[in-house]
Amino acid sequence: MQRRAEEIRRSNRGIGFVPTMGFLHEGHLSLIRKARELADVVVVSIFVNPAQFAPNEDFVSYPRDEARDARLAEEAGCELLFIPSEKDMYPDGYSTFVQIDGLSSIWEGELRPTHFRGVTTVVAKLFNIVKPRVAVFGRKDTQQALIVKRMAADLNMDVLVHVAPIVREPDGLAMSSRNTYLTPAQRVEALAISRALRLAESRFDEGERDPEILRAAVMRELAGSSEVRVEYVAVTDPVTMAPLANNDAADEMLIAVAARVGKTRLIDNILLNKSTTS
Ligand code: PAF
Repeated sequence: MQRRAEEIRRSNRGIGFVPTMGFLHEGHLSLIRKARELADVVVVSIFVNPAQFAPNEDFVSYPRDEARDARLAEEAGCELLFIPSEKDMYPDGYSTFVQIDGLSSIWEGELRPTHFRGVTTVVAKLFNIVKPRVAVFGRKDTQQALIVKRMAADLNMDVLVHVAPIVREPDGLAMSSRNTYLTPAQRVEALAISRALRLAESRFDEGERDPEILRAAVMRELAGSSEVRVEYVAVTDPVTMAPLANNDAADEMLIAVAARVGKTRLIDNILLNKSTTS
């Protein structure tokens, strides 16, 4: 992959990179299409990264289907698919990890203390291997995207990190490979998450700016669903993810939710600002 990347760069073409853990869905495909728009050659990686899963998490059961992924990635415009093995990425004696302070230990990082260290380590390695000019990440994992941006800036990585919008199912559920774990009944219950975020959005559009009131509205909506167990509802600054206090009355905020539906852990978020909401 490094050799191919070098050839591409020498021919004066820029690489657009979409790192994934496979089991591609429309959300990933939208990132691949965006990478096509932003660069000359699109590389997609598929690697279920053990370093970002805690021992009690779903590394083993994480859905995998490489043949289907290859077909979908190609149809969306991917030219090179990079599928390293665990040994390629973490050979015996591997001992280097990339850790971003601050952002990595709040919200997702508080509940999954080793997660972001695994993400930043593998993304740094993938950037060194694939040598992209631009890398595209999805806004559903908004904290991950902010952390990767921080890493790229702090470590002077020569790559532009582009963050693309969340892709949702027609009924509002944010697309995720983990949605496949949901039973049909849980899938219906899970809709409470996007519904709660949309509710906050309409309150915001009506002029509500009090972070606590918006947070309470989201919590109330989620509490209406017996299957949804909330892990956090974060009303934060969209760049630092620092929690907003009552008197902050910000015109731009990010509301992020993590919740379990049955055993499945889902995350979602919405960016609210005065002019546009997404
Ligand atoms: O978002 C993901 O799928 C993963 O965290 C990533 C960025 C591919 C790193 O393993």
